[in-house]
Amino acid sequence: MSHRRMSHYRMPILEKKGFVVLSRDNVVIEPEEWRSLEYVDWKSSGDTRFAPLASAYGDIECNAFWHFDPPKPDKDGIWIDSQVDVAPTIAAAAKVPGANVGRVRIIELQPNSYADALYNSHLDDNNRLNDEGGWVVRSFRNLTDDGESYMVLREDVKDPSTETRIALPAGARVIVDSERMWHSVWHTGDEPRYCLITSYESGPELEKWIFENDPIDDVEVPELDPTCAAEQEAQAQARRDARTAHYGYDPTTVMSEA
Ligand SMILES: [Fe+2]
Repeated sequence: MSHRRMSHYRMPILEKKGFVVLSRDNVVIEPEEWRSLEYVDWKSSGDTRFAPLASAYGDIECNAFWHFDPPKPDKDGIWIDSQVDVAPTIAAAAKVPGANVGRVRIIELQPNSYADALYNSHLDDNNRLNDEGGWVVRSFRNLTDDGESYMVLREDVKDPSTETRIALPAGARVIVDSERMWHSVWHTGDEPRYCLITSYESGPELEKWIFENDPIDDVEVPELDPTCAAEQEAQAQARRDARTAHYGYDPTTVMSEA
């Protein structure tokens, strides 16, 4: 079974690398906004909580849209008034492209190691039930100022040579085909990291907005100490293998919930 159908509209700009980095958003967002939101516990990779701004039917929950009756793809999300009211600038940032949104939420991530990030790396099931229209991709807009933390992207989770690390200062923006690219965040800070994550439907609105914000995919990747990186890689892959053996399949792949 495959969720990929050739009829989807896919943005050519993501074809080569599966992601683009945009210029930093210089809109100032006060911490009070993300601190005032209601968070829910939701199973995800790593030590995380989420605060939804838009959900399948407007409730404060983070379930994938296909879990509901009627089920739907990760599009046509319903804004949650009580959350938008306390975080208007964050909601406005998600609405700026004018593209159809699915899930919109804030992630709270506790500090972790590079090995943890590699262990947590996963693919998103963005296009389940998405039978027509645009391929759903995700936008990540960092809220906290985490210039020493990195989004870790890999084309092949087992191949470090396919990795790109993207620094996450406040306002950092990355558009990722997160059903194609393995992703997670290595958060080196002392405090939790907060980030706005928005599911968008690919289309002319999103494409126009991306081109207005200086997209690049040739990111300069900061060097890692090779010995340390190799140690963390081995540790992470051993933990990944043990998890796969435990479940009998790799639960971080996009098809794992099928
Ligand atoms: Fe993800």
